[in-house]
Amino acid sequence: VVETVSGIRETLANMRTAPGKRLKVGFVPTMGYLHEGHQSLLSKAKAECDIVVLSIFVNPLQFGPNEDFDKYPRDSERDLRLAEQSGCDVVFMPSVQEMYPNPIRTSVSVKGVTERLCGASRPGHFDGVAAVVLKLFHIVQPDKAYFGLKDAQQVAVISQMVSDLNVPVDIVPCPILREADGLAMSSRNVYLSAEERREALVLSKALGMAERLAQEEGLTFEALRNKIEGEIRSTPLADIDYIEVLSYPELEPVDPSMETVSRTSDMIVALAVKFGKTRLIDNVILHRK
Ligand code: PAJ
Repeated sequence: VVETVSGIRETLANMRTAPGKRLKVGFVPTMGYLHEGHQSLLSKAKAECDIVVLSIFVNPLQFGPNEDFDKYPRDSERDLRLAEQSGCDVVFMPSVQEMYPNPIRTSVSVKGVTERLCGASRPGHFDGVAAVVLKLFHIVQPDKAYFGLKDAQQVAVISQMVSDLNVPVDIVPCPILREADGLAMSSRNVYLSAEERREALVLSKALGMAERLAQEEGLTFEALRNKIEGEIRSTPLADIDYIEVLSYPELEPVDPSMETVSRTSDMIVALAVKFGKTRLIDNVILHRK
């Protein structure tokens, strides 16, 4: 466990230099409160790399003023146990002071892919994500970095940034891990009351329905979106932030009346829905036919 930037640089420089071989570093950035979704990224990194580095840092820059930065769940002891079980070698766990000793004056702003979905609902969020991830890439200098498609827009943003700025890292998108009943795993699921937890099932149910409906020829994207909305609206506690069908990874709208689900590019059905105070996101990618 390393808490300083200089410490992690030194640790990794030493670990990397095996005689006659350059060891591969796999990196999994997280905000902690680990669950099996995070662990699946660590396992994939373990399978593909020689050294697995996990970062745990709740990044204030990506939270809006009325969001849950202060309340975000934290349990580093448990996290370290789970990290070790998943074969993680090094954990980078800096303080806010270590990452931002002075107010940051540089912004990392990816255009286009941040315009819709969470980019629209959470102004500045992806600037905060891009800045911290670019900092972490410079600190850890990984060969590969693992990101979950639970946050599909985040994957699109980071991939665009890495491509635009020639960051020497391979981005590996990883599948969404779900609870047995379908709810996408998330550190924020602990906020849900028993009733909200039950009702939140409608999200994965509606996305499953979208996947089935998308097999039908001739259905328009608008019709697909409306069916999902109807399904979610039938749940009393669900407060819809957005439901959108966009191209992936460009995240651009398709002409709703023209385009049918017999598609020529990958599409994403993405949604954000609040249950009480808890905002959940989920999505499904419909692959090109
Ligand atoms: P966090 O929400 O902790 O997520 C860390 C990583 O775990 C992300 O890549 C996320 O997509 C992935 N993940 C979360 N739930 C998952 C699930 N159910 N299945 C598969 N992967 C899942 O995302 C962040 O942190 C931050 O924005 C970060 C990238 C660390 C920058 O601060």
